[in-house]
Amino acid sequence: MDNTVVIGGQWGDEGKAKITDLLAQSADIVIRYQGGCNAGHTVVYDGEIYKLHLVPSGILYKDKICFIGAGTVVLPDVFKQETEGLKNRGVDLSGLKLSPLAVITLPYHTDVDAWAEDTAKKGKIGSTRRGIGQTYTDKYARCALKIEDLFDEETLSEKLDIILPLKNKTLKSVYGLKEYSKYEMIELCKKYKEIFEPYVCFDWQNLLNEYKNKTILFEGAQGVMLDVDYGTYPFVTSSNPIAGGASVGSGYGPCMIKRVVGVMKAYTTRVGEGAFVTELNDETGDRIRDNGHEYGTTTGRPRRCGWFDSVIARYAVLTGGITTIALTKTDVFDDFDEIKICTAYKDKRNGKIYTEYPTNVFMHKYLEPVYEILDGWKQDISNVKTYDDLPQNTKKYLKRIEELSGCKISIISVGADREQTIIL
Ligand code: GDP
Ligand code: IMO
Ligand code: MG
Repeated sequence: MDNTVVIGGQWGDEGKAKITDLLAQSADIVIRYQGGCNAGHTVVYDGEIYKLHLVPSGILYKDKICFIGAGTVVLPDVFKQETEGLKNRGVDLSGLKLSPLAVITLPYHTDVDAWAEDTAKKGKIGSTRRGIGQTYTDKYARCALKIEDLFDEETLSEKLDIILPLKNKTLKSVYGLKEYSKYEMIELCKKYKEIFEPYVCFDWQNLLNEYKNKTILFEGAQGVMLDVDYGTYPFVTSSNPIAGGASVGSGYGPCMIKRVVGVMKAYTTRVGEGAFVTELNDETGDRIRDNGHEYGTTTGRPRRCGWFDSVIARYAVLTGGITTIALTKTDVFDDFDEIKICTAYKDKRNGKIYTEYPTNVFMHKYLEPVYEILDGWKQDISNVKTYDDLPQNTKKYLKRIEELSGCKISIISVGADREQTIIL
């Protein structure tokens, strides 16, 4: 396999973990390059369900290195729960390595995230409350703690002397939230050091050099439409899930990437706030949610559901750098009489047709989807193993998605299990 990036081509939860786990068979190292425990990645193998947040979805193989890169943010307690949970289930974590450059989510990051979600009257993001936005804000404001800081008392003390007075000022006067003393932070940091110590890879430069000529799989979290630069801003996450982010967040240059698998559902879902032109607030939406078990892996929130949107698919192919599509959850339509695909948006005010994604999402309230209707296949495809054995109408649906997205499909997923996959 060529070095490959797996990204979400919609608003997250497309089934990236299933595809990463599948492709990890042919990789030597799997690198998670951005995001934090806002992600909820589900791998189903041998009837066992594993829900991952930060640990790369290659962890179920004993012989792979799973590296959590510098572009990620880490919430210590959730990392501890995740790693302990996996160990208790007998998963071997000896290949798990954490970049010392990853940024730590501190208690005030989650405090402010919760404050913003609870008190914002307008413009609420519907975040996962994992302090993601605040941690990345501090990273770019150059006042964050990195994992390596925990391992040098002098550095930690110096950095806290710079950071804490500033933080405490805004925590108290702007948000009316709890302030943190230096002593309190140092005690917390001792605890964090213990959590991370078994996994921190101080020798990461050697590691990356060692794997340079082997097969690398980059795992993205979230999806193109949640990308901080290209997504439905401001209703996005605070990092770059697009393939371009894989280079920044992993430590490998862009020339190392040969293929980008864009994972897309056969329909569209979204959790949290923000524009969603093909959203179905009716029985059909409920039926997709029921058939597809569309509830958040991290928060349990019901996901908003709608038809496949080829306007965002084309946009994701372009800005995400997608070279091939993995289409998941195709089986969810098994009992549908007809299936719609959105080919364009129409402005209700003046009839203007958009075939390219209009990036000002505050104007999306005036848009309605233009649909094409295809016949369903009315057949259980969850055990189909080859493309040839798929019903004719499924093939027509896949072909139309390819034509409208401007990108070939190379993987078709017909169920959650690793085995329920058709590779073209
Ligand atoms: P991720 O965040 O992109 O890794 O996706 P999630 O794990 O949050 O959500 C995808 C859900 O769909 C998980 O429960 C998967 O087990 C499930 N899943 C993945 N592929 C398929 C598929 O082809 N068919 C069905 N029915 N479920 C799938
Ligand atoms: P995976 O990797 C779906 C959404 C949140 C919210 C917005 C910002 O499982 O696909 P944040 O907590 O990041 O500040 O929230 O992004 N969001 C996700 N939606 N899947 C995810 O991850 C998500 N991670 C964040 O719901 O709308
Ligand atoms: Mg998910």
